[in-house]
Amino acid sequence: MTKEKITRETVQEMDQNDTLRAFRSEFYTKDNHYYMDGNSLGLLSKRAEDAVLTSLKDWKEHAIDGWTEGKEPWFYMSEKIGEKTAPLIGAKPHEVINTGSITANLHQLIATFYQPDKSRTKIVADTLNFPSDIYALQSQIEQKGLKHEEELIRVESQDGYTLDEDDIIAQMDEQTAVLLLPSVLYRSGQLLDMKRLTNEAHQRGILVGFDLAHSIGALPHQLHDWCVDFAVWCTYKYLNSGPGGVGGLYVHEKHLGQKPGLAGWFSSKKEKQFDMEHTLTPAETASAFQMGTPHILSSAPLLGSLDMFHEAGVEAVRSKSLQLTRLLMNLIHQELSDFGFQIVNPLEDERRGGHISLVHPEAASICKALKMEGVTPDYRSPNVIRLAPIALYISFEDVYDVVLILKKLMEEEKHKQFKNERGIIA
Ligand SMILES: Cc1ncc(COP(=O)(O)O)c(C=O)c1O
Repeated sequence: MTKEKITRETVQEMDQNDTLRAFRSEFYTKDNHYYMDGNSLGLLSKRAEDAVLTSLKDWKEHAIDGWTEGKEPWFYMSEKIGEKTAPLIGAKPHEVINTGSITANLHQLIATFYQPDKSRTKIVADTLNFPSDIYALQSQIEQKGLKHEEELIRVESQDGYTLDEDDIIAQMDEQTAVLLLPSVLYRSGQLLDMKRLTNEAHQRGILVGFDLAHSIGALPHQLHDWCVDFAVWCTYKYLNSGPGGVGGLYVHEKHLGQKPGLAGWFSSKKEKQFDMEHTLTPAETASAFQMGTPHILSSAPLLGSLDMFHEAGVEAVRSKSLQLTRLLMNLIHQELSDFGFQIVNPLEDERRGGHISLVHPEAASICKALKMEGVTPDYRSPNVIRLAPIALYISFEDVYDVVLILKKLMEEEKHKQFKNERGIIA
């Protein structure tokens, strides 16, 4: 932690030196409001809005011909977005496709790559993963006629918040078929060492998949070079595609050309799709892992949003994000040490994702009070407050203000007027 006192002047100077500060005006932000929840739903940008309007105009003007004749032809949009996403995850363009959701894509890729045989039947995951991933794994194991209670191994956490890579490696054995882990843990924001885990798994003949929900758009990846077998992600968090925005998947090129576990007509090679044959000719790219008609209006925002990442550069986004989260932790240390908060995310840069995770017994009521005071935090039951200072639209001074608002609220016990329990969505 820094020893020098952080003042408003300190953070104002940081803002002046911020090479990404111009991007803030591209987003719909509100005056006197601090949005710290971009790790759940990113803000709307003007470019994303324009991209949706373009697709609506294409529909208005071209009707069915919008599939091929529109300004952004819908028939090729998923591939185009895949290509634009590839640099964010260190993939080749044909290894990525915009499609589905995390849960649907996980079903697809587990159905494809989990082929239990006599010796390898187990999937290794973890006890801290997002429930939907676990449900998908459980049901895929059942689909193969096996019992998930026997075949799904969930690595335990020693502290309840983070995972030790050594514990994960210890669970990899000659019975393991697939390893599926989050890149960044959704609660604590721990960034796992994807390269090391992939290496260790491959040495034991295990296929590796990652859920990039909390890392895509927040930090760089090198999925192709690390030889990661597959990955899934959503786009409504750091990539700002909007509520229910279409997700994406990656499959390493060494696996391309094979039949998808769950096929549909959009799995086809594009030139063959409209031959309407009953024998599928799968695309030789990640396109093969699509199923049905793409959700154009929920994909289109990415065309605008991803351009900003290309202009900013994901390394610069990561560098500012690390500065923001470090500042936030230092300020919490400086201003909030009397109020019983515990930082549970890893402190080291190389083990930290894009959000800070604060534990407090009154987390639910504190989050409600923060909202009343103009700060949108993110609450995870039973006691976690997640704060995500997003590099493209949060300033260093915003972070300073948020901590001072939180301090005042705690001093005046404003949270006591709220029940310390979660709402229907939290
Ligand atoms: C880590 C993680 N995995 C999976 C999901 C579920 O994603 P989806 O609803 O897009 O399938 C989420 C949703 O927030 C998530 O954070």
